Amino acid sequence: MKNHLSDRINSMSTSATLAMAAKARELKNEGKDIIGLSLGEPDFNIPDFIKEAAKEAIDQNYSSYSPVDGYADLKQAIANKFKRDNGLTYGLNQIVVSTGAKQSLANIAMVMLNDGDEVILPAPYWVSYSDIVKLAQGVPVEVPTSIDTDFKMTPEQLEKAITPKTKMMWFSSPCNPSGSVYSKEELEGLAEVLKKHPNIFIVSDEIYEHINFRGGHVSIANIEGMYDRTITVNGVSKAFAMTGWRIGYIGGPEWVARACNKFQGQITSGANAIAQRATIAALNAPISSIQFMIDEFHKRRDLVLELLGEIKGFNLNVPEGAFYVFPDISSFFGKTINGTLINNASDFALYLLEKANVATVTGEAFGNDNCIRISYAASEKELREAMARIKAVL
Ligand SMILES: Cc1ncc(COP(=O)(O)O)c(C=O)c1O
Repeated sequence: MKNHLSDRINSMSTSATLAMAAKARELKNEGKDIIGLSLGEPDFNIPDFIKEAAKEAIDQNYSSYSPVDGYADLKQAIANKFKRDNGLTYGLNQIVVSTGAKQSLANIAMVMLNDGDEVILPAPYWVSYSDIVKLAQGVPVEVPTSIDTDFKMTPEQLEKAITPKTKMMWFSSPCNPSGSVYSKEELEGLAEVLKKHPNIFIVSDEIYEHINFRGGHVSIANIEGMYDRTITVNGVSKAFAMTGWRIGYIGGPEWVARACNKFQGQITSGANAIAQRATIAALNAPISSIQFMIDEFHKRRDLVLELLGEIKGFNLNVPEGAFYVFPDISSFFGKTINGTLINNASDFALYLLEKANVATVTGEAFGNDNCIRISYAASEKELREAMARIKAVL
Protein backbone atom coordinates (compact mmCIF):
# COMPACT_ATOMS: atom_id res chain seq x y z
CA MET A 1 0.00 0.00 0.00
CA LYS A 2 1.19 3.49 -0.81
CA ASN A 3 2.49 5.33 2.21
CA HIS A 4 0.34 8.41 2.55
CA LEU A 5 2.04 9.65 5.67
CA SER A 6 4.21 12.74 5.74
CA ASP A 7 7.99 12.59 5.33
CA ARG A 8 8.04 14.19 8.76
CA ILE A 9 6.51 11.21 10.52
CA ASN A 10 8.09 8.62 8.25
CA SER A 11 11.55 9.85 9.17
CA MET A 12 10.85 10.00 12.90
CA SER A 13 12.01 7.14 15.10
CA THR A 14 9.72 5.62 17.69
CA SER A 15 10.68 6.42 21.27
CA ALA A 16 12.93 3.48 22.17
CA THR A 17 12.02 3.62 25.83
CA LEU A 18 8.30 3.48 25.08
CA ALA A 19 8.88 0.76 22.45
CA MET A 20 10.77 -1.39 24.97
CA ALA A 21 8.04 -0.84 27.56
CA ALA A 22 5.42 -1.91 24.99
CA LYS A 23 7.41 -5.04 24.13
CA ALA A 24 7.81 -5.89 27.81
CA ARG A 25 4.06 -5.40 28.33
CA GLU A 26 3.34 -7.71 25.39
CA LEU A 27 5.55 -10.46 26.83
CA LYS A 28 3.94 -9.97 30.23
CA ASN A 29 0.51 -10.42 28.66
CA GLU A 30 1.78 -13.68 27.17
CA GLY A 31 2.37 -14.81 30.74
CA LYS A 32 6.12 -14.13 30.98
CA ASP A 33 7.42 -12.88 34.31
CA ILE A 34 9.03 -9.68 33.01
CA ILE A 35 10.77 -7.17 35.27
CA GLY A 36 10.49 -3.77 33.59
CA LEU A 37 13.53 -1.57 34.12
CA SER A 38 13.10 0.36 30.89
CA LEU A 39 10.86 3.26 31.84
CA GLY A 40 11.84 6.52 33.51
CA GLU A 41 8.95 6.57 35.88
CA PRO A 42 9.06 6.83 39.68
CA ASP A 43 7.27 3.88 41.26
CA PHE A 44 5.92 5.93 44.17
CA ASN A 45 2.40 7.21 44.61
CA ILE A 46 1.81 10.92 44.33
CA PRO A 47 1.98 12.52 47.80
CA ASP A 48 -1.53 12.86 49.30
CA PHE A 49 -1.46 16.65 49.61
CA ILE A 50 -1.13 16.91 45.83
CA LYS A 51 -4.05 14.55 45.27
CA GLU A 52 -6.12 16.63 47.69
CA ALA A 53 -5.34 19.80 45.73
CA ALA A 54 -6.53 18.13 42.53
CA LYS A 55 -9.77 16.98 44.19
CA GLU A 56 -10.38 20.48 45.47
CA ALA A 57 -9.80 21.90 41.99
CA ILE A 58 -12.47 19.58 40.59
CA ASP A 59 -14.91 20.61 43.32
CA GLN A 60 -14.12 24.26 42.67
CA ASN A 61 -15.02 23.75 38.99
CA TYR A 62 -11.67 24.35 37.37
CA SER A 63 -13.16 23.01 34.20
CA SER A 64 -12.69 25.80 31.66
CA TYR A 65 -9.70 26.55 29.45
CA SER A 66 -6.85 27.96 31.51
CA PRO A 67 -4.74 30.82 30.19
CA VAL A 68 -2.64 29.30 27.38
CA ASP A 69 0.66 29.78 29.24
CA GLY A 70 -0.73 28.63 32.62
CA TYR A 71 -2.64 30.06 35.57
CA ALA A 72 -1.01 33.19 36.97
CA ASP A 73 -0.84 31.73 40.49
CA LEU A 74 0.83 28.60 39.12
CA LYS A 75 3.35 30.76 37.27
CA GLN A 76 3.93 32.63 40.54
CA ALA A 77 4.57 29.30 42.30
CA ILE A 78 7.03 28.41 39.52
CA ALA A 79 8.75 31.80 39.83
CA ASN A 80 9.05 31.21 43.60
CA LYS A 81 10.41 27.73 43.01
CA PHE A 82 13.04 29.02 40.56
CA LYS A 83 14.09 31.59 43.15
CA ARG A 84 14.07 29.16 46.10
CA ASP A 85 15.77 26.17 44.45
CA ASN A 86 17.86 27.69 41.69
CA GLY A 87 18.51 31.31 42.69
CA LEU A 88 16.94 32.35 39.38
CA THR A 89 14.66 35.37 38.99
CA TYR A 90 12.01 34.89 36.32
CA GLY A 91 9.02 37.21 35.94
CA LEU A 92 5.65 35.68 35.10
CA ASN A 93 6.06 36.82 31.48
CA GLN A 94 9.16 34.59 31.26
CA ILE A 95 7.36 31.40 32.28
CA VAL A 96 5.23 29.03 30.19
CA VAL A 97 3.44 25.94 31.53
CA SER A 98 3.03 23.05 29.08
CA THR A 99 1.79 19.49 28.77
CA GLY A 100 4.92 17.94 30.23
CA ALA A 101 8.54 18.98 29.85
CA LYS A 102 8.46 17.05 26.60
CA GLN A 103 6.08 19.61 25.16
CA SER A 104 8.16 22.44 26.62
CA LEU A 105 11.12 21.06 24.65
CA ALA A 106 9.05 20.65 21.49
CA ASN A 107 7.80 24.25 21.83
CA ILE A 108 11.35 25.53 22.13
CA ALA A 109 12.49 23.60 19.06
CA MET A 110 9.55 24.82 17.02
CA VAL A 111 9.98 28.47 17.95
CA MET A 112 13.77 28.64 17.87
CA LEU A 113 14.96 26.48 14.99
CA ASN A 114 15.05 27.10 11.27
CA ASP A 115 15.87 24.59 8.56
CA GLY A 116 19.48 23.47 9.00
CA ASP A 117 20.15 25.06 12.39
CA GLU A 118 22.50 22.86 14.36
CA VAL A 119 21.81 21.76 17.92
CA ILE A 120 24.69 20.35 19.95
CA LEU A 121 23.70 17.30 21.98
CA PRO A 122 26.32 15.89 24.33
CA ALA A 123 25.79 12.14 23.97
CA PRO A 124 24.38 10.23 25.69
CA TYR A 125 21.34 12.48 25.66
CA TRP A 126 17.68 12.01 26.49
CA VAL A 127 16.04 9.82 23.88
CA SER A 128 13.63 12.43 22.44
CA TYR A 129 16.02 15.37 21.94
CA SER A 130 17.24 14.37 18.50
CA ASP A 131 13.80 13.58 17.09
CA ILE A 132 12.30 16.78 18.51
CA VAL A 133 15.13 18.78 16.93
CA LYS A 134 14.68 17.00 13.60
CA LEU A 135 10.93 17.57 13.67
CA ALA A 136 11.68 21.29 13.78
CA GLN A 137 14.06 20.84 10.80
CA GLY A 138 17.09 21.32 13.01
CA VAL A 139 20.18 19.16 12.74
CA PRO A 140 21.28 17.27 15.88
CA VAL A 141 25.06 17.36 16.30
CA GLU A 142 26.06 14.63 18.70
CA VAL A 143 29.17 15.10 20.80
CA PRO A 144 30.14 11.64 21.99
CA THR A 145 31.36 11.28 25.56
CA SER A 146 32.40 8.11 27.32
CA ILE A 147 32.47 6.57 30.74
CA ASP A 148 36.06 7.85 31.12
CA THR A 149 34.79 11.44 31.45
CA ASP A 150 31.73 10.37 33.44
CA PHE A 151 29.74 10.93 30.22
CA LYS A 152 30.21 14.71 30.41
CA MET A 153 31.16 17.00 27.54
CA THR A 154 34.39 18.93 28.05
CA PRO A 155 34.82 22.60 26.99
CA GLU A 156 37.27 21.45 24.30
CA GLN A 157 34.69 19.08 22.83
CA LEU A 158 32.07 21.83 22.85
CA GLU A 159 34.41 24.28 21.14
CA LYS A 160 35.18 21.73 18.43
CA ALA A 161 31.50 21.01 17.75
CA ILE A 162 30.57 24.66 17.18
CA THR A 163 30.10 25.78 13.56
CA PRO A 164 28.60 28.95 12.05
CA LYS A 165 25.29 27.02 11.93
CA THR A 166 25.18 26.21 15.65
CA LYS A 167 22.03 27.67 17.16
CA MET A 168 21.62 25.80 20.43
CA MET A 169 23.03 23.30 22.89
CA TRP A 170 20.65 20.99 24.78
CA PHE A 171 21.59 18.95 27.80
CA SER A 172 20.18 17.47 31.00
CA SER A 173 21.85 17.53 34.40
CA PRO A 174 21.29 15.25 36.24
CA CYS A 175 21.46 13.41 32.95
CA ASN A 176 19.05 10.89 31.58
CA PRO A 177 20.46 8.29 30.77
CA SER A 178 23.88 8.50 32.48
CA GLY A 179 22.90 9.99 35.86
CA SER A 180 25.87 12.37 35.53
CA VAL A 181 25.64 15.73 37.27
CA TYR A 182 27.63 18.74 36.02
CA SER A 183 29.39 20.64 38.81
CA LYS A 184 29.50 24.44 38.94
CA GLU A 185 33.10 24.37 37.71
CA GLU A 186 32.22 22.13 34.78
CA LEU A 187 29.34 24.41 33.78
CA GLU A 188 31.63 27.43 34.08
CA GLY A 189 34.02 25.70 31.70
CA LEU A 190 31.26 25.25 29.10
CA ALA A 191 30.07 28.83 29.69
CA GLU A 192 33.58 30.17 28.95
CA VAL A 193 33.34 28.63 25.48
CA LEU A 194 29.78 29.86 24.91
CA LYS A 195 30.75 33.42 25.85
CA LYS A 196 32.82 33.50 22.68
CA HIS A 197 29.72 32.57 20.66
CA PRO A 198 26.95 34.94 21.75
CA ASN A 199 24.41 33.58 19.25
CA ILE A 200 24.20 30.12 20.77
CA PHE A 201 21.29 29.41 23.12
CA ILE A 202 21.13 26.75 25.79
CA VAL A 203 18.35 24.40 26.80
CA SER A 204 19.03 23.27 30.34
CA ASP A 205 16.75 20.34 31.14
CA GLU A 206 16.62 20.19 34.94
CA ILE A 207 13.75 17.77 35.39
CA TYR A 208 15.87 15.55 37.70
CA GLU A 209 17.27 18.43 39.77
CA HIS A 210 15.96 17.10 43.08
CA ILE A 211 17.07 13.52 42.44
CA ASN A 212 20.66 14.46 43.04
CA PHE A 213 22.84 12.52 45.47
CA ARG A 214 25.89 14.78 45.41
CA GLY A 215 23.79 17.69 46.73
CA GLY A 216 23.77 21.17 45.28
CA HIS A 217 22.11 21.33 41.89
CA VAL A 218 23.54 24.11 39.71
CA SER A 219 21.53 25.79 36.96
CA ILE A 220 23.61 26.99 34.03
CA ALA A 221 21.38 30.10 33.81
CA ASN A 222 23.00 31.06 37.10
CA ILE A 223 26.51 31.07 35.63
CA GLU A 224 27.69 34.53 34.71
CA GLY A 225 26.64 35.61 31.20
CA MET A 226 24.29 32.65 30.62
CA TYR A 227 20.94 33.89 32.00
CA ASP A 228 19.80 35.74 28.86
CA ARG A 229 20.58 32.83 26.57
CA THR A 230 19.33 29.92 28.62
CA ILE A 231 15.90 28.33 28.64
CA THR A 232 15.52 26.35 31.84
CA VAL A 233 13.16 23.39 31.46
CA ASN A 234 11.59 21.61 34.39
CA GLY A 235 8.42 19.78 35.43
CA VAL A 236 6.75 17.70 38.09
CA SER A 237 6.92 14.24 36.50
CA LYS A 238 10.05 13.03 38.25
CA ALA A 239 10.31 14.90 41.56
CA PHE A 240 6.65 14.45 42.49
CA ALA A 241 5.95 11.14 40.71
CA MET A 242 3.38 12.97 38.55
CA THR A 243 4.31 11.53 35.14
CA GLY A 244 0.72 11.02 34.03
CA TRP A 245 -0.39 14.50 35.06
CA ARG A 246 1.63 16.01 32.22
CA ILE A 247 2.89 19.31 33.59
CA GLY A 248 6.20 20.84 32.53
CA TYR A 249 7.37 24.43 32.35
CA ILE A 250 10.10 26.76 31.19
CA GLY A 251 11.75 29.90 32.47
CA GLY A 252 13.67 31.92 29.91
CA PRO A 253 13.92 35.14 27.96
CA GLU A 254 10.55 36.87 27.60
CA TRP A 255 10.67 36.72 23.79
CA VAL A 256 11.07 32.94 23.91
CA ALA A 257 8.21 32.60 26.40
CA ARG A 258 5.98 34.78 24.24
CA ALA A 259 6.74 32.64 21.18
CA CYS A 260 6.07 29.38 23.07
CA ASN A 261 2.78 30.84 24.29
CA LYS A 262 1.82 31.74 20.72
CA PHE A 263 2.81 28.30 19.40
CA GLN A 264 1.02 26.43 22.18
CA GLY A 265 -2.05 28.58 21.61
CA GLN A 266 -2.43 26.94 18.21
CA ILE A 267 -1.53 23.43 19.31
CA THR A 268 -2.95 22.61 22.75
CA SER A 269 -4.59 25.74 24.23
CA GLY A 270 -2.60 25.09 27.39
CA ALA A 271 -2.11 22.29 29.90
CA ASN A 272 -4.76 20.39 31.86
CA ALA A 273 -6.46 22.71 34.36
CA ILE A 274 -6.76 20.23 37.27
CA ALA A 275 -3.15 19.14 36.94
CA GLN A 276 -2.05 22.79 36.94
CA ARG A 277 -3.92 23.43 40.20
CA ALA A 278 -2.33 20.33 41.76
CA THR A 279 1.08 21.51 40.62
CA ILE A 280 0.70 24.68 42.69
CA ALA A 281 0.46 22.50 45.81
CA ALA A 282 3.46 20.42 44.69
CA LEU A 283 5.72 23.39 44.02
CA ASN A 284 4.75 25.30 47.14
CA ALA A 285 5.61 22.33 49.38
CA PRO A 286 9.03 22.17 51.03
CA ILE A 287 11.54 19.83 49.40
CA SER A 288 11.44 17.82 52.64
CA SER A 289 8.06 16.47 51.51
CA ILE A 290 9.76 14.44 48.76
CA GLN A 291 13.00 13.65 50.59
CA PHE A 292 11.82 10.08 51.23
CA MET A 293 11.82 9.39 47.47
CA ILE A 294 15.27 10.85 47.00
CA ASP A 295 16.64 8.79 49.91
CA GLU A 296 15.06 5.66 48.51
CA PHE A 297 16.52 6.25 45.02
CA HIS A 298 19.92 6.81 46.61
CA LYS A 299 19.71 3.46 48.43
CA ARG A 300 18.62 1.69 45.27
CA ARG A 301 21.42 3.24 43.24
CA ASP A 302 23.95 1.87 45.70
CA LEU A 303 22.30 -1.53 45.64
CA VAL A 304 22.25 -1.74 41.84
CA LEU A 305 25.86 -0.60 41.57
CA GLU A 306 26.89 -3.21 44.12
CA LEU A 307 25.01 -6.03 42.37
CA LEU A 308 26.07 -5.06 38.85
CA GLY A 309 29.62 -4.65 40.12
CA GLU A 310 29.62 -8.39 40.84
CA ILE A 311 28.97 -9.19 37.16
CA LYS A 312 32.09 -9.50 35.06
CA GLY A 313 32.08 -7.28 31.97
CA PHE A 314 30.02 -4.37 33.30
CA ASN A 315 31.94 -1.10 33.36
CA LEU A 316 30.14 1.37 35.62
CA ASN A 317 30.31 5.07 36.42
CA VAL A 318 28.77 6.25 39.68
CA PRO A 319 25.63 8.17 38.65
CA GLU A 320 25.13 11.10 40.97
CA GLY A 321 21.52 11.78 40.10
CA ALA A 322 18.33 10.71 38.26
CA PHE A 323 17.38 7.03 38.61
CA TYR A 324 19.38 5.23 35.97
CA VAL A 325 22.63 3.37 35.62
CA PHE A 326 24.27 3.35 32.21
CA PRO A 327 26.83 0.55 32.19
CA ASP A 328 29.27 0.16 29.33
CA ILE A 329 28.76 -3.43 28.21
CA SER A 330 30.94 -3.30 25.09
CA SER A 331 33.19 -6.03 26.55
CA PHE A 332 30.46 -8.50 25.52
CA PHE A 333 30.51 -7.46 21.84
CA GLY A 334 31.67 -10.15 19.45
CA LYS A 335 31.04 -12.85 22.05
CA THR A 336 28.53 -15.67 21.91
CA ILE A 337 26.61 -16.22 25.13
CA ASN A 338 24.54 -19.38 25.42
CA GLY A 339 24.37 -19.56 21.63
CA THR A 340 23.47 -15.88 21.06
CA LEU A 341 25.99 -13.65 19.32
CA ILE A 342 26.12 -10.16 20.86
CA ASN A 343 27.23 -7.57 18.34
CA ASN A 344 25.94 -4.38 19.89
CA ALA A 345 23.95 -2.85 22.75
CA SER A 346 20.61 -3.64 21.08
CA ASP A 347 21.54 -7.33 20.86
CA PHE A 348 22.54 -7.20 24.52
CA ALA A 349 19.29 -5.55 25.68
CA LEU A 350 17.28 -8.03 23.62
CA TYR A 351 19.27 -10.92 25.09
CA LEU A 352 18.47 -9.70 28.61
CA LEU A 353 14.81 -9.38 27.73
CA GLU A 354 14.51 -12.81 26.15
CA LYS A 355 16.79 -14.83 28.42
CA ALA A 356 16.52 -13.02 31.77
CA ASN A 357 13.07 -11.52 31.25
CA VAL A 358 14.47 -8.13 32.26
CA ALA A 359 13.59 -5.07 30.15
CA THR A 360 16.33 -2.45 29.77
CA VAL A 361 16.98 0.01 26.92
CA THR A 362 19.77 -0.03 24.37
CA GLY A 363 22.18 2.90 24.63
CA GLU A 364 21.87 3.42 20.86
CA ALA A 365 18.62 5.24 21.53
CA PHE A 366 20.54 7.75 23.63
CA GLY A 367 23.41 8.22 21.19
CA ASN A 368 25.83 5.77 22.83
CA ASP A 369 25.96 2.25 21.47
CA ASN A 370 28.39 0.83 24.04
CA CYS A 371 25.90 1.02 26.90
CA ILE A 372 22.48 0.01 28.10
CA ARG A 373 20.23 1.99 30.40
CA ILE A 374 18.81 0.34 33.48
CA SER A 375 16.18 2.27 35.42
CA TYR A 376 16.17 1.60 39.15
CA ALA A 377 12.74 3.13 39.64
CA ALA A 378 11.58 -0.30 40.85
CA SER A 379 11.26 -1.99 44.22
CA GLU A 380 14.32 -3.39 45.99
CA LYS A 381 12.87 -6.89 45.61
CA GLU A 382 12.50 -6.47 41.84
CA LEU A 383 15.96 -4.95 41.52
CA ARG A 384 17.58 -7.82 43.44
CA GLU A 385 15.72 -10.39 41.36
CA ALA A 386 16.54 -8.59 38.08
CA MET A 387 20.25 -8.33 38.85
CA ALA A 388 20.36 -12.00 39.93
CA ARG A 389 18.71 -13.03 36.64
CA ILE A 390 21.09 -10.88 34.59
CA LYS A 391 24.06 -12.41 36.39
CA ALA A 392 22.70 -15.92 35.78
CA VAL A 393 22.24 -15.52 32.01
CA LEU A 394 25.64 -13.93 31.52
C1 LIG B 1 15.64 14.35 30.65
C2 LIG B 1 14.16 14.36 30.49
N1 LIG B 1 13.58 15.47 30.04
C3 LIG B 1 12.24 15.55 29.87
C4 LIG B 1 11.43 14.46 30.15
C5 LIG B 1 9.94 14.60 29.90
O1 LIG B 1 9.25 14.81 31.06
P1 LIG B 1 7.66 15.04 31.07
O2 LIG B 1 7.07 13.82 31.67
O3 LIG B 1 7.48 16.25 31.93
O4 LIG B 1 7.22 15.29 29.67
C6 LIG B 1 11.99 13.28 30.61
C7 LIG B 1 11.14 12.10 30.87
O5 LIG B 1 11.56 10.97 30.82
C8 LIG B 1 13.40 13.23 30.79
O6 LIG B 1 13.98 12.12 31.24
